[in-house]
Amino acid sequence: MLETLVASVFRREARRRMRLGPSAGIAVVPAEPVFLYLHVPFCEVLCPYCSFHRVRYEDGKVHRYFAALRREIRHYHDRGYRFSGVYVGGGTPTVAPDELVATLGLVRELNPALGDISVETNPKDLRDEVLAALAGAGVGRLSVGVQTLDDGLLAKMGRLEKYGDRAEILGRLAAAAGRFRTLNVDLMWNLPQQSEAMLEADLEGVLASPANQASFYPLMQTRAAARQMAKTMGLPARRRLRRDYERILARLRPEFTPTSGWCFSRGARGIDEYLVDSGDYVGLGSGAFGYVGGTLYATTFSLNSYVDRIERGLSGVTGERRLGARERMQYDLLLRLFGLRLDRAWARARYGERFERALAPELAAFRLLGAIDSDARGWHLTDRGMFLWVQMMSAFFESVNAFREQMRHQIRAELEGEALGEALVPLAEIRHGPGALRRVR
Ligand SMILES: C[S@@+](CC[C@H](N)C(=O)[O-])C[C@H]1O[C@@H](n2cnc3c(N)ncnc32)[C@H](O)[C@@H]1O
Ligand code: SF4
Repeated sequence: MLETLVASVFRREARRRMRLGPSAGIAVVPAEPVFLYLHVPFCEVLCPYCSFHRVRYEDGKVHRYFAALRREIRHYHDRGYRFSGVYVGGGTPTVAPDELVATLGLVRELNPALGDISVETNPKDLRDEVLAALAGAGVGRLSVGVQTLDDGLLAKMGRLEKYGDRAEILGRLAAAAGRFRTLNVDLMWNLPQQSEAMLEADLEGVLASPANQASFYPLMQTRAAARQMAKTMGLPARRRLRRDYERILARLRPEFTPTSGWCFSRGARGIDEYLVDSGDYVGLGSGAFGYVGGTLYATTFSLNSYVDRIERGLSGVTGERRLGARERMQYDLLLRLFGLRLDRAWARARYGERFERALAPELAAFRLLGAIDSDARGWHLTDRGMFLWVQMMSAFFESVNAFREQMRHQIRAELEGEALGEALVPLAEIRHGPGALRRVR
């Protein structure tokens, strides 16, 4: 109950903070290598629940887009940027495997000391030739969007026909076994009409699969997604959140170890999602976010404008928000603790003694709630805290998704022109109102 209250206060705050002003691009060049996020917004089907920046796959567009992405990677390199690792998210980055491999090859060529490479995909793309190409490109973490293994729910989501049923998905995962250091499966819970038995069957499927990492996301909602869901798969009842989360922890824990509130690793800890490490990262492509030197950046959501800007030698970044000193510490507290632990030495190296002083009220409140505990090394989440953090991170991502929705509304003519088959929410219904949009223009 208290957790829900804290999460709802946090939700309001997160929304308020997702207001970006205009940007001429990232002004600084970090002295150290930073992480790279590449956004590939193409998908063959547009799932009703999804608020990521995605558009329907179109051959010609994809090739132009990847060419612009590689050009942008070179721009950053020429400016002095060096990358420590790369995460390719979407959309579905594997819609054009050759383009993806060429892009990863370029990143490695320009950054010979490149570390982890993570790529998102869907079950249909787990074909031998794609898997071999990705492994050959040095991909260490392949993250497969499974969502659920319940055929009925997959059908309601519009994924059954395109991405296969339970047997097919598990068969395809078996084909990917042992080819990547980390084989992650993404599942969602608190889905509309998902019974306890269905969740249990999903958990059994994951346990029986060769995946050595599983991410279990609570369904996050925005207005536009909720409209689509209401027409297709229905809307969820939030009442079951805690019960479902406890079931996930209890069923996975003997074999899997939590590495964040919603990510679990089997055996040795695998490659995690880049955000949890909360270092600086640059986001390239259309509809990507970055965080460099205490400023949050967003790139244009218009694919046409993105390609055009890059071809003219401009930055794809069009929005930014500089975080205040205390906000930066709060951001680190949120993300680090989502990774279950925040080391005092890490906080001191980044902020000196002021970290503990500035965040004393937050640390005391979370301790009082039983959400965090501390030891000589620093602070860590309790089980209660894990559930609270899952709710706060959902609220955080919902505010990011609401921002995506606003940006997509701005480019509705472009999106509608492509007959995306997606109802864009009327501006008046976007909760933030048009203020944030004006600032971004
Ligand atoms: C951007 S998708 C990429 C995966 C790939 N396109 C696919 O769907 O197979 C990454 C993951 O985000 C998660 N996701 C998407 N929409 C979500 C939502 N509304 N709530 C929670 N998780 C969501 C899904 O689990 C999905 O696999
Ligand atoms: S869930 Fe994956 S496949 Fe579905 S629309 Fe979102 S990014 Fe595309």
